[in-house]
Amino acid sequence: MQPHNIPFGQPMLDQDEIDAVTKVLKGPILAHGPVCLEFEEAFAKHIGVDHAISVSSGTSGLHLSLFSRQIGPGDEVIVPAMTHVATAHAVEYCSAKPVFVDVDPKNGNITSDAISSEITENTKSIMVVHFLGLPCDMDKINANAEKHQLFVIEDAALAVDALYGETKAGALGNVGCFSFYPIKHMTTIEGGMVTTNDPQLAESIRKRKAFGYDHSHQTRKKPGVYDVPILGYNYRMNEVEAAVGLCQLAKLKQKLKIRETNYNALKNTLSAIDEITVFDPVQGKARSSCYCLNAVLPQDGSLNRDDIVAELNAQNIGTSVHYPGPVPLMTYYQEKYGYKPGQFPVAEWLSAQTISLPVAPHVPDGFEIKIADAIKNAIHKIRKKN
Ligand SMILES: Cc1ncc(COP(=O)(O)O)c(C=O)c1O
Repeated sequence: MQPHNIPFGQPMLDQDEIDAVTKVLKGPILAHGPVCLEFEEAFAKHIGVDHAISVSSGTSGLHLSLFSRQIGPGDEVIVPAMTHVATAHAVEYCSAKPVFVDVDPKNGNITSDAISSEITENTKSIMVVHFLGLPCDMDKINANAEKHQLFVIEDAALAVDALYGETKAGALGNVGCFSFYPIKHMTTIEGGMVTTNDPQLAESIRKRKAFGYDHSHQTRKKPGVYDVPILGYNYRMNEVEAAVGLCQLAKLKQKLKIRETNYNALKNTLSAIDEITVFDPVQGKARSSCYCLNAVLPQDGSLNRDDIVAELNAQNIGTSVHYPGPVPLMTYYQEKYGYKPGQFPVAEWLSAQTISLPVAPHVPDGFEIKIADAIKNAIHKIRKKN
């Protein structure tokens, strides 16, 4: 496939990342080093939490959050049907059972009411996913979790700098997990961060991301000598990735502003097209980090998504889909748990009838006009054909 003039996403790396990486590569420490610690400190301060632990991916952060809480066989974890498979896979890695719930048609988020209907005596945790960067209604969800003593994990993979009131995503539950995949709000190439205000949980995650060593490289009394009192993984971030992350973090605020401006410009332009609905980026106390803009097509299926995507791609505009199917209807989950089409009507509608459009800082001036024109053109062709 040819690269698009307006790609859906694009990593944005400048000379400062290249210089920072070169400095690390020329030095003696590539792993277990001070740059990761510096990045963790800066990220914790940025989000407003006491602890941030760098990890190898968003997925490993989700897994460590459940694993460190000792969630395992016989336990149930509530997960929204509309998410990346990583959220549910993390539960599977622990041999616990993901219990899926449908999402809110206003925003694609999990709701407290939907959670309530699935709580059983085996439920141990709720994984909330801030869909495309809009925080879930955390006041209600946290009150519900407190009532049932459930551990709240925020999957904030797409929600860096999203706000709920004055609080940032990642500081809204017991633990928050971020992804720094190349086209996310900020990247470390692959990588992620776990945030929490719970010192014991932070310590447990820190140990379990590095084999379960009792002492890190920095705290060993004798070099190379350690014990392993608990099971752990190799889920560390390396120094090169952390160096990229520090540079990206410094530019994050300015980039988020551009995303917001782009989102609102595209939303306003698309408002002239009756057939398209767009989620509001500010809903109640929640303010989105505007990962991308989902253009929602009519629920009656009167517009074929493939036709519109084909026209956008023909005009050199990249698109994506979030997400390509409700996770419980992915083959692995259907076969294992017997979920059936029709059980998650909102997630099924959103996954079949939305087009994810770019709003990240790489889009050129006037992108919103180009996108709206291509969509209008596609709708015109569809109407003529029918
Ligand atoms: C909601 C959500 N959670 C988790 C992930 C996985 O993150 P990573 O690729 O860093 O493992 C993604 C990836 O896009 C995501 O969208």
